[in-house]
Amino acid sequence: MAEVSLGALEDLKDGEARRVDVDGHRLAVVRLGGAVYVIGDRCSHADYSLSEGEVDADHCTIECWKHGSTFDLRTGEPLTLPATRPVPVYEVEVRDGAVVVTLS
Ligand code: FES
Repeated sequence: MAEVSLGALEDLKDGEARRVDVDGHRLAVVRLGGAVYVIGDRCSHADYSLSEGEVDADHCTIECWKHGSTFDLRTGEPLTLPATRPVPVYEVEVRDGAVVVTLS
């Protein structure tokens, strides 16, 4: 387990996803107001980047741009087909204005 800073919260655009590659992990980082979610940036249906998809702030989901599966940002669970398996979810917190993720 390793804690890694992903930079300042204020540098993340609210309601958008950003891909971050760190220590061999491909992450999709999403800010919704003061909250940050980090999930694996690889759709579980095929190898497409979830961070290029649309974020739905009301439902706390992100939609895979390729075939339209939506994933819960809190759990990584797919809510719609064709994806059936969850994507990884990473522990994240905002500490002194910095986004810190725990990688396992
Ligand atoms: S690649 Fe994401 S739903 Fe198919």
